Amino acid sequence: MKNNIIKKIPQNILNLLKEIGKAAEDFGCQAYAAGGFVRDLFLDTENLDIDILIEKNAAQFAKKLAKKLAKKKGWKVKTHKKFGTASLIFSDNFKIDITSARSESYKTPAALPEVKAGLLSEDIMRRDFTINTILINITPKNFGEITDIFSGVKDIKNRTVKALHDISFIDDPTRILRGIKFATRFNFTIDPHTQDLIKEAVNKNVFASLSGKRFFTELKYILKEKEPVLPLTKLFKYNIIQTIASDIASDKNAFFFLKQIKEVILWYKKDDYLKWALYFMGLINNCDKKASQDICRHFEIPHNERILFCDMRLEAKSLLKNIEKNKMEYKKISVFKTELILYMMASLKSPLKKEKLFKAYKKAKNTKVIINGNHLIKLGVKPGPIFSEITNKLFEAKIKEEISTKEDEIDYIKKYFLHNGH
Ligand code: CTP
Repeated sequence: MKNNIIKKIPQNILNLLKEIGKAAEDFGCQAYAAGGFVRDLFLDTENLDIDILIEKNAAQFAKKLAKKLAKKKGWKVKTHKKFGTASLIFSDNFKIDITSARSESYKTPAALPEVKAGLLSEDIMRRDFTINTILINITPKNFGEITDIFSGVKDIKNRTVKALHDISFIDDPTRILRGIKFATRFNFTIDPHTQDLIKEAVNKNVFASLSGKRFFTELKYILKEKEPVLPLTKLFKYNIIQTIASDIASDKNAFFFLKQIKEVILWYKKDDYLKWALYFMGLINNCDKKASQDICRHFEIPHNERILFCDMRLEAKSLLKNIEKNKMEYKKISVFKTELILYMMASLKSPLKKEKLFKAYKKAKNTKVIINGNHLIKLGVKPGPIFSEITNKLFEAKIKEEISTKEDEIDYIKKYFLHNGH
């Protein structure tokens, strides 16, 4: 098993791990690759988010490492004193986090072997699921050796998400969302006892003690998953969404609508927009302005995103009524973000209307009025609300393809505005 796993590590990462392992040995301790990186090696899934666990103070180790290797290789080392952790940052933003199995260093060298076993299991015991507890030793003598205290490898083989201990979700309710995320991401089942623990924690209202901000951070990870609809459905089944935002839950069609969003996303293909924001708009689809604002406030969503979710989204919804009647408001959609257009497309039932909207959006985005304020002043128009009136009319005329060049615009202004005494 040891060699098979090592073979799966890309060569450049393997070299890095070896160097860090060697430095740890020189520092007088063992180092291990841990967490999602190791789990995903067993799952044959690429994961470049590497966590290293060492048995001494990670910040001190990172400083030594910086002196020895980092300067030479152009690596940057960032230490986080408060948490006793450090990050190695590479030129291409690839990052390795180093944490201590326990921040205190050893008291007496004689106690080392005993403490060593204790330290590791103590750290591992604090983790969320068995599948995240596997360690790979990266120090030269024991390179590739696997420590699997909680049979995480077996659970990966059995495709099971299993909590480590019974108060895991009471300690940290965000783990409920993590568990659901892992189960749906890897197509695993949540082990029956863990399911009971989730239900028990939800019944005990654990989310009441969790800030909206932390809940939303985890929810956002789910919304960013490749397939968020399934985990969102599970959040609903476990009564979690209902506890957090009753307005979302009262929408019986919410999940049907999320599927429509998924279809539009698949159709659009490009990823030049925030997919998570689109799914979030799907989740709050039925919320009116007040309910949307309450949810955003509870989740501590930043101002610019609140504008998108509470104001722009509702404006987009109101435009839908006209689109259903075949009336397109080009000027309004020209300032919309892709997220909003895709949201509107998901709301429209007729494929023809979806297509029409998207074409209109592309046309509106590509339509630019050339004449600006200075030009208008030169033409003798007095500054005032008339400026935007003219620009809007020019925009409309361009959309109707009545005019196209700058000269056309000037003629249009002369014809429709200047003779009116402006
Ligand atoms: N962890 C935990 N409880 C949490 C968050 C994290 O026990 N609430 C532990 C897990 O052992 C996890 C490790 O910290 O493997 C690293 O966390 P993180 O990088 O957030 O998660 P990954 O497991 O790497 O998940 P993902 O693939 O979604 O990044």
